[in-house]
Amino acid sequence: MNLVAGGHFDNIAFILCINVQLATKARALSERLSLDYRNDFNETDVDEYLKKGRRYYIEFGDTLVCLKCLGLKQHGAIFSDFLSKSLAYRRFSGGIKKEAIARAIGVNKNFRPQVTDLTAGLGNDAFILASLGCLVTLVERNPVIYSLLENGFERATDYGTFDYDIKDIVNRMMIIYMDGDNFLSTYAGLTDVIYLDPMYQKRRKSAAVRKEMQAFHSIVGMDDDAPSLLRLALKKARYRVVVKRPLRAQYLDNHPPSYSIRGKTTRFDIFVISPSPH
Ligand SMILES: C[S@@+](CC[C@H](N)C(=O)[O-])C[C@H]1O[C@@H](n2cnc3c(N)ncnc32)[C@H](O)[C@@H]1O
Repeated sequence: MNLVAGGHFDNIAFILCINVQLATKARALSERLSLDYRNDFNETDVDEYLKKGRRYYIEFGDTLVCLKCLGLKQHGAIFSDFLSKSLAYRRFSGGIKKEAIARAIGVNKNFRPQVTDLTAGLGNDAFILASLGCLVTLVERNPVIYSLLENGFERATDYGTFDYDIKDIVNRMMIIYMDGDNFLSTYAGLTDVIYLDPMYQKRRKSAAVRKEMQAFHSIVGMDDDAPSLLRLALKKARYRVVVKRPLRAQYLDNHPPSYSIRGKTTRFDIFVISPSPH
């Protein structure tokens, strides 16, 4: 079994690199995960990999690093995209009052907490918080997901050379490849707010979204250690810990929060440590 902390990689066929500038990173990932490194592939290769249950590959392309399906295209490429239409829409039409995550974190017009997102994933939640003015540290432990996140961050940084709003947002973000547990144990100080959004089996999605989630799930696993991460987070946050859950999910670690903010499909459980400044 291909075991690296925080992920399952037996279903990945290979790392494909078609951009020489990304070759060092692509090779490092292939070595870390003991996966084939390739510059191209053909139909015969595909059949061989599929027979072994390897249904995905990671592409280091011209500009994009993404997770793709091998063989039948079950879903689109999965990548981190801070320049997506949906994040732009939330940025322009959301704001402190409309974004439930902003209320959950305790953002107000006089106070933008410093947030540590210990389950960064592709960085969408963290980007929204940074766009609201928070300084956000994004911690991700899965090497595949981190590669996608890092590439999304680099593309947004490049874009920021001519879009100053994006530049300001990415300047408020810092990405770290580490286990959240290690991060908290080695980080000496307190952080204003700790944010957790561990994996959870989500239901009732459209078929295409379900397939994308399946792919994400099958690479990341189920984050079964999230309860212990919550326990540590509660010791390391100055004002609060916020846990994102599906609306009807049980509390993480069966720990009732101080209160919850409910949306249509998502719930934010807020564990207040001390009152945030107003
Ligand atoms: C549901 S995703 C987070 C999605 C993210 N909130 C977003 O908006 O894109 C969960 C992510 O947390 C990561 N993760 C889970 N436990 C972690 C830990 N202890 N340390 C670092 N990353 C962790 C997983 O690898 C996965 O990428």
